Amino acid sequence: MCGIVGYVGDKKAQDFLISGLKRLEYRGYDSAGIVTVSEKGKATLIRAKGKIAELEKKLAKNKRDDNVGIGHTRWATHGEPSEKNAHPHQAGSIYLVHNGIIENYKELKAELKEHDFKSETDTEVLAALINSFYKDGKHPLVNAVVQALKLVKGTYGIAVVSVLEPSELVVARSGSPLVIGVGNNETLVASDASALVGHTKRAIYLNDGEVALLTKNSIEIKTLNAEPVSAKVEEIETNLAAIQKGGYDHFLLKEIMEQPDSLRETLRGRVNAENGTVRLGGPGLSEAELRKIKHLIIVGCGTAYHAGLLAGYYIEKFTPEITIETVIASEYRYRDAYIPKDSVALIVSQSGETADTLACLREIKKQGIPTIGIVNAIGSTIAREVDGGTYVHVGPEISVASTKAFTSQVIAMVMFGLTIAQAKGVKSSILTPYIKEIAGLPEEIRKVLDGSVETVKKIAKDYAKYDHAIYLGRDVAYPAAMEGALKLKEVSYTDANAYAFGELKHGPLALVDDRFFEVALVPDGVLLEKSVSNVQEVLARGGHMIVVTNSDEFDLPVESVVKITTSMKLFAPLLMNLVMQLLAYYITVDKGYNVDQPRNLAKSVTVE
Ligand code: G6P
Repeated sequence: MCGIVGYVGDKKAQDFLISGLKRLEYRGYDSAGIVTVSEKGKATLIRAKGKIAELEKKLAKNKRDDNVGIGHTRWATHGEPSEKNAHPHQAGSIYLVHNGIIENYKELKAELKEHDFKSETDTEVLAALINSFYKDGKHPLVNAVVQALKLVKGTYGIAVVSVLEPSELVVARSGSPLVIGVGNNETLVASDASALVGHTKRAIYLNDGEVALLTKNSIEIKTLNAEPVSAKVEEIETNLAAIQKGGYDHFLLKEIMEQPDSLRETLRGRVNAENGTVRLGGPGLSEAELRKIKHLIIVGCGTAYHAGLLAGYYIEKFTPEITIETVIASEYRYRDAYIPKDSVALIVSQSGETADTLACLREIKKQGIPTIGIVNAIGSTIAREVDGGTYVHVGPEISVASTKAFTSQVIAMVMFGLTIAQAKGVKSSILTPYIKEIAGLPEEIRKVLDGSVETVKKIAKDYAKYDHAIYLGRDVAYPAAMEGALKLKEVSYTDANAYAFGELKHGPLALVDDRFFEVALVPDGVLLEKSVSNVQEVLARGGHMIVVTNSDEFDLPVESVVKITTSMKLFAPLLMNLVMQLLAYYITVDKGYNVDQPRNLAKSVTVE
């Protein structure tokens, strides 16, 4: 979703702004813009609908040496994607970029009669509001920003420059992330630390309700109530290689293929296959607290929700006397759900910034329920607000469609389940098989990826022609099928839905015809026969089926079979998910769509 960058220093601001916006491209956007201000107070504003390449075309004719500026990639909320709605927005002497939503913009706009509104955005209302307090430089910019923000309802991460104070930037946040990069004779700003990588390793993560006045050599942070804040400088852990394609055509393929390593990072120091134990430091719950847990609520959106569903199926298999409810954050935040005592909530989010998930976290915390984050982005809002947590440590995930984060989220939650089970005294004969498989999973992932990539690439060519797909599975393979369907629809725009095999006869079977293809997950094990009969039902109706299986017994004459060879019994569905990730990728490549940035979608959904 929208991205912000800002620069004040000795170098050319335009260079950092453009390179920073490119780093944020993965978040999803539909227009972009930058403004820089010269020492003499002359502003150069460039905005364009579409990709940053469009902005660069305009920039070629407007190169400036200015040392201060702000930039933005916009994901339309109020008003269509267009040049006039793109940020920065101007009001008098100030320019503003904004992530988030100003909810009371209509009321505010009605009062701002002096401003001639040029866009349909809520952001321009905020710009005009700040300008009304700024009074053309009669008051310091930072004070005007504070006064304006006190009247605002909604969420924001903002950066403001003024032509009258061309050596400073003002930034503020409430509900939308902002990171300040501390450099040598320069201070940088971004909504996501990846834009700062290569410029500085030192960062200050702004908190909600804070505003900062930045110059090239100083960072002054205070709250909206004028209380000074002593900033904590943290190290940015990401390196440049992690945010580059590393020889792959797309980030999506790179991220699928790097899962053996990313999962190794998730497991590092946490799993001991030899003595059959799992140890997680982050949740911070004592043995007694773990023993008391009777109910787990798992909250997430999109892929994180599916990871929660899948992990829930596993955890209930080995953890006694526990109920698990996995919920969609955007629903749960408005439900009047009763949360029983002795519950613990797992808050699952790759970005750690998803607005609905964050809202649930805050609501659940209010009720006194311990919250544990299953988060990837270090220092993100959810990571900072949960009571304890387990970072999945998969490194930056750039492609909008989540892949490596999913695999590690599932395993991180299963590990948390195992720590509960250990505390509850579950026999090691039950837990050890899970722990052994988890420890061996990175290597199995490597084998499955290497062994299936060429097959899937070929198969994809036969199925790229379909507009509809049905994904099927039972037990743990059902949430895996849901994730498979989501992957296909988000990147290849194929209408794909998942059903539990047992539900086939209750509706979806009516869909089977030549417009559809079906992807069935058929893991070996006690339910194999049931799944095989379901495959037969589809086959008898002329279904165009791809069966993904690790069973040596599967011998039905379906159109395509992807046989995975693995010693894993318990986690085979997670390995089958890799095949579905590759299938979604190659079908999308065949269709010629933008793999890493699917239309209309954003990586980090920071608005409701
Ligand atoms: C967006 C992304 C998905 C992601 C979901 C939840 O829709 O495109 O890939 O699964 O948000 O994001 P989170 O960062 O909370 O895991």
